[in-house]
Amino acid sequence: MANNNQSVHGIWRNRWIFILAATGSAVGLGNIWKFPYITGEHGGGAFVLMYLACIALVGIPVMVAEVAMGRRGRQSPINTMISLISEAKAGPAWKAIGWMGALAGFLILSFYSVIAGWALSYVLKLAAGTFVGADQALAGDQFSDMLGDPSGLMMWHTIFMVLTAGVIMRGVNKGIESAIQVLMPLLFVLLLVLIGYAAKNGNFAEAVHFMFDADFSKLSAESVLVALGHAFFTLSLGMGAIMAYGAYMPRQASIGTTVFAIAGLDTLVALLAGLAIFPIVFANGLEPSAGPGLLFVSLPLAFGNMAGGQFFGALFFILVTFAAWSSAISLIEPATAWAVERFKTSRVKATIGIAFIIWFLGIGTVFSFNDWSDYVFFAKTPDGIELFAVMSELKAMYPTAVDTLKGLTFFDLLDFITANIMLPLGGLLIALFVGFGMKYHHVYNEMQVKTPLFFNIWYVVLRFITPIAIGIVFIQGLLPECSFDSELLDADSGVCSNAPYLQPRLIGGVIIAIVYVGIIVKSLKKPARGLAE
Ligand code: TRP
Repeated sequence: MANNNQSVHGIWRNRWIFILAATGSAVGLGNIWKFPYITGEHGGGAFVLMYLACIALVGIPVMVAEVAMGRRGRQSPINTMISLISEAKAGPAWKAIGWMGALAGFLILSFYSVIAGWALSYVLKLAAGTFVGADQALAGDQFSDMLGDPSGLMMWHTIFMVLTAGVIMRGVNKGIESAIQVLMPLLFVLLLVLIGYAAKNGNFAEAVHFMFDADFSKLSAESVLVALGHAFFTLSLGMGAIMAYGAYMPRQASIGTTVFAIAGLDTLVALLAGLAIFPIVFANGLEPSAGPGLLFVSLPLAFGNMAGGQFFGALFFILVTFAAWSSAISLIEPATAWAVERFKTSRVKATIGIAFIIWFLGIGTVFSFNDWSDYVFFAKTPDGIELFAVMSELKAMYPTAVDTLKGLTFFDLLDFITANIMLPLGGLLIALFVGFGMKYHHVYNEMQVKTPLFFNIWYVVLRFITPIAIGIVFIQGLLPECSFDSELLDADSGVCSNAPYLQPRLIGGVIIAIVYVGIIVKSLKKPARGLAE
């Protein structure tokens, strides 16, 4: 262990700063941009309910575990894992948590920065009065024009990456803390103003009905996976970001209450964003399932028709940019801290190298929305799934089934793999490592337990409920099936078009169950756990 009380990268001045920084990481495009549009795509209420359940049963327990690991290790996630593994005398395979996390951070930030670039470009559009008196057509055209111009997207993506690298270079205390303190509260206030507008001028009742009345027939197994993935994404979990911030947390602060505050604020912001956006969507006859453009079409429409909208609109997108900024720095911090430790180099050099790689990856996302939008991965066709295809060719091949063809662009693929696979997998490993890999008394000590009852509840949930929940959602969500997803059922023949998938799903389930029982049995054989050891 490097140093039990302090990390070489700095320390938060007090517990409040940790809450601010972690909330700054959690609250971002995930809440304001992604949550509303995936809620729209997955049918509303039932999806929101699954998302809330995932936050409570999986997100919060894993967040507590991540903070505790970070504070115990006091280094970058990769080296923290190495120390914790040797402390616990656990197997080297657990190192995957650190490495996979750093990779996930790279991949996520590469597209995150492009979307944050959209928000930056909207600051100018709104300030210039582009949307004054706008109707739906104009708002839609503005958005598609922006997507159709790769050089513009590239420019904003570059600016955002430079901003992010700028904060990271200055280090944890000076850079991260000062940026967040003012902006978070301001964002909150502006969201409330927007809701006030939406309540007065939008279709608020319809929005509340859509977001909170659960209709489970709309919920597919894949939707549940997306809800789980989003719980990780929105709380910044599963890749070491929160672990890296936990490393800078003062030793005496209580982890449990801190985590509740962060998760509560994050969830609140997401729900508020939904309540600001959906009334406008319904009042203007927009499609809730419009996808990634939902925020960028609905809100400019509202600002364009609101008194002072030019000013408030520009301000809103400035705040969205800042929320994205404070999240982006947490995506790059784990890799930067590691590079500083590993190469004994300066923060500035480490940041420049890493930011460049991420910027370069981001070019793929820039082109996903224009020149490469026709190239798709995992295309669903009537004849099965194709790993890679050209959408326009598929449409020509299946003229009668055009509406059922689906595929993932490069951006969709990155989003899917990171949020729905890498983060939950990272979370699963974190839960198992803290639950079964680390020594009980180390975990207990790190948690600064004041109320043993709360500790025990958390420990049981983390060991048994969280891993099983993630496992089940994985198995159900990754392998299409008929009972959840009626689309796959052929109405005429009543045959499930994915019957061949049922078998691998069962086999996968059995394997996971065996491995899981194996881990539990093995851990039970360890010498008695106790505080005295
Ligand atoms: N939570 C942020 C958001 O909702 C994004 C984010 C920041 C993130 N750091 C992360 C997501 C680490 C996953 C992992 O916008």
